[in-house]
Amino acid sequence: MNYKYCGTSGLQLPLISLGLWHNFGDVDDFSLATDMILHAFEQGITHFDLANNYGPSPGSAETNFGKILHSHLKNHRDEMIISSKAGYPMWNGPYGDGGSRKYLMASIDQSLKRTGLDYFDIFYTHRYDAQTPLEETVQALIDMVKQGKTLYVGLSRYPADKARQAYEMMEAQHVRCLIYQDKYNLLYREPEAELMPLNASMGKGFIVFSPLAQGVLTNRYLNGIPENSRAAKGHGALQTSDITPDVIAKIQQLNVLAEKRGQTLAEMSLAWLLHKKEVTSVIVGASSVKQLQDNIDSIQNFDFTPDELNRIDTILK
Ligand SMILES: NC(=O)c1ccc[n+]([C@@H]2O[C@H](COP(=O)([O-])OP(=O)(O)OC[C@H]3O[C@@H](n4cnc5c(N)ncnc54)[C@H](OP(=O)(O)O)[C@@H]3O)[C@@H](O)[C@H]2O)c1
Repeated sequence: MNYKYCGTSGLQLPLISLGLWHNFGDVDDFSLATDMILHAFEQGITHFDLANNYGPSPGSAETNFGKILHSHLKNHRDEMIISSKAGYPMWNGPYGDGGSRKYLMASIDQSLKRTGLDYFDIFYTHRYDAQTPLEETVQALIDMVKQGKTLYVGLSRYPADKARQAYEMMEAQHVRCLIYQDKYNLLYREPEAELMPLNASMGKGFIVFSPLAQGVLTNRYLNGIPENSRAAKGHGALQTSDITPDVIAKIQQLNVLAEKRGQTLAEMSLAWLLHKKEVTSVIVGASSVKQLQDNIDSIQNFDFTPDELNRIDTILK
């Protein structure tokens, strides 16, 4: 594994991080989840990304991660970066969703309890909440750091202008926001316009979620929709209707290019992200150790020729 400094901070993150949004809940195979986490750590993946609501059921990914950590990795806590988040609906009533101080403070305590951790390394506000004053959300993050509940804080899914304001508010109280987390992949290039330049110019790390477009940018859907895939499962965010003939035509052409580079489509898709200087790390999901290893192998070649980059742009136009 290679590691990269997170923006202008002193914290290094692995180029490949592991996310527990899917496949680590109480509907999933616990022994497979254990194998994936242990394999990741053995391969130098030191960063594991959680959120309060990951499962299903919500909270169960944190509970399972905590069990695995305490059974197998408890002597390695200082070698790991563990993140969690709050912002999406988690419990009933007005205090279980959004960006209020009430929700964030209760949620981090619940997440620490579920994982059995004393502190998180990174805690994120999971989304911008226009109904809550930005100052309230930011102050909650600052206070979490001051109370020792998290070492660093981050933002996810904020508009660029709000992210800038949040960074400035934190700096005024001597707490630096470490990192911004956003969706970015070959099929979704939105952050290139504002958020990536903003984060680079303000010295923040930029960490990518859904780097494989939930599996679309892999060999998973080249020839239809496999039964056990995320698109075929009832509880996922990826729908079978997302796998359109246009998408299939694009990924088939990308796959030809990947084969010419001696990579799988997943490897090339991740390599393309890693060749961007603004990207600190990519948070991959996986449903098998084989997929995870394939993703780790992407770091072996993330150089692209100008011709390859042009070919990618032409395919995706
Ligand atoms: N901040 C936020 O709002 C937010 C939102 C979403 C995600 N996240 C974070 O980002 C992490 C990753 O998101 P994601 O799961 O959508 O990432 P992803 O890497 O784009 O998709 C993961 C899925 O792709 C398939 N896959 C992965 N590697 C493969 C390979 N080598 N070959 C074939 N198929 C492969 C698997 O699907 P199958 O299950 O079909 O096998 C896997 O479950 C999450 O776990 C979470 O930590 C954050």
